[in-house]
Order: sequence, then C-alpha cells, then structure tokens
Amino acid sequence: MSPTINLPYFDTLLALLEQEDPAVAESFGRHVHWGYWSDPRQAKNTPADYAQAAEYLTQAVCKAAQVGDNLAILDVGCGFGGTIASLNERFTGLHLTGLNLDERQLQRARKKVIAEKANTIDFIQGDACQLPFEDASFDRVLAVECIFHFPDRQRFFQEAFRVLKPGGHLALSDFVPLSWVMPLIQLGKLLPLEQGFYGGVDLTYTLDDYRRLAQETGFTTTVQQDITRNTLPTYEFLFHLGQMLGNRDLSATIQTGITAGMSHLHWLLYLILGFEKPGK
Ligand SMILES: C[S@@+](CC[C@H](N)C(=O)[O-])C[C@H]1O[C@@H](n2cnc3c(N)ncnc32)[C@H](O)[C@@H]1O
Repeated sequence: MSPTINLPYFDTLLALLEQEDPAVAESFGRHVHWGYWSDPRQAKNTPADYAQAAEYLTQAVCKAAQVGDNLAILDVGCGFGGTIASLNERFTGLHLTGLNLDERQLQRARKKVIAEKANTIDFIQGDACQLPFEDASFDRVLAVECIFHFPDRQRFFQEAFRVLKPGGHLALSDFVPLSWVMPLIQLGKLLPLEQGFYGGVDLTYTLDDYRRLAQETGFTTTVQQDITRNTLPTYEFLFHLGQMLGNRDLSATIQTGITAGMSHLHWLLYLILGFEKPGK
C-alpha cells in the first residue's frame, strides 16, 4: 500500500498556482527545491533569479549522475516535472520517467512538460519505496530533494539498485546533519512537525549513515559534494516570498527559520551524493 500524502506546502503551492500567482508560478512552477548560486553574493532575491538558481541545482544533481544523451532516466519524487523538463531540453535520445506519489503534481507535469522529438516522457504515480518497474530498467535514477519524505531510505536505495542496470548511477540531494548535531535533531523530533507546513520530513541521516547504506546496498559512492553555502540565498528568498504572500503559517516560519539557522551555522549540510551500481 502506498503511504498517504501529507505535504501541506504542496497544497499551498497548488492553490497559488491555480490562482495563477505570478511570483509563485515563476519561482516554484517548475522546480520545487532549493536554489544553487555559484556566487551566493550575486543572488538577487527575485522570482526570476530564484527560478534560474533552482534550475542550476537540478543541473548539478544531473551532473553527479553523469547524465548524457541516449539514456533511460527515472526521476523519483519528480514534483511538477522540473528535472524531466530540464533533461528534455538539454539532451536527446532520452527515455524519461517521472514518478510521484501525488497525482495532482503529475497532472501539472503532464500538461507542462512535452517531449522533444527524440525523447519520450512518462509520468507515473507510485511510491519511491516500491518502484513499479522491472529490474535493470534504467541507466540513471535521480531523487532531487525528496528522499527525506520517503518512508524508508534503505528501502529506496534497494529499489534504486534493483531498477538500475549494471554500471548505472543514482544521484540525489539531501539535507544532512553533522553527527554531533544529532542529539539536537532528535530533540526536535519531539515537536509535532509532521503536522507542520513541510509534512513528514526526516533530517536524521548523516553522511556516515549514507556511506554505510551505500555499502550495504552494493553501491560505490562516486560524489559527495557539499553545496550548503551555494544554497543559502534560498532562505532569504523564502522569507521574502512569504512576506509577499502574507504568510500567516507559524509552522512554515519556524521550520524554515530553524533550517536556515542550522544551514548558516553549517550544522545542517546540503549535499549532492552520487552512487554507481558496479558491474560494467
Ligand atoms: C521538495 S519536492 C521535490 C520535487 C522535485 N524533485 C523537484 O526537485 O522539483 C518533494 C517531492 O517528493 C514527492 N514524494 C514524497 N514522498 C514520496 C514517495 N514516497 N514516493 C514518491 N514521491 C514522493 C512529493 O510529492 C514531492 O513531489
């Protein structure tokens, strides 16, 4: 059975997109994740600048997966299809599949993302931890800023490993705490955050946990990129957008504020991780 969807931030986004809010459509109508600024001092705190930075973050994750032409690529937790759209625009001969638990997001993706001539695109409803695909069906699996919502990281890694061909790559981005911060994070778990703006989020996976998980699953780790500094302008933009929209959701302010503080202190890292399934 698929897990239930409890993502209030997507309910808010979908409502604002339905109302055609121009700032939300520009900043979060395609990608729903943090931005990447190669020089964070150049961030302009505008929806257009944010959209560009979000596109750069997607491209950085795709680069970690060594994406190129003529590949079968699965994007798990695909949101509104932003990563699929980016790949579709930049590469050719791709068989692209976006998977999401939330059918409402997929409906938007199907409308917005149309395959270029030499590519194919499918958007499929399903759970990251029970992938509805045959063994060895994909050359690449991507999971951009979504693994913290999945019911079980270990199960997702096993599933990604199973559906990848030998020599295939998995790349993802995630918020990763430093080991010594874990007691603080565990304390935070006592708060009723699951009922908050971001829904169920598990930020308790350290880099050592990822290394262990990769080894247990059979993956070789290929990329460990700390881009925390490059993502920091995201927080200023989120607060600015919240003000523009007249945000009165206290849990959104608190959760974003805590994440911002921990990221600025470099206690909570934003990492891009890449893994290879051996055998080619
Ligand atoms: C922060 S959004 C990222 C969306 C997209 N990857 C992007 O970068 O624009 C997290 C996504 O994970 C999806 N998601 C959450 N739990 C999931 C699950 N168990 N299986 C598949 N997708 C899931 C959500 O519906 C949402 O689209």
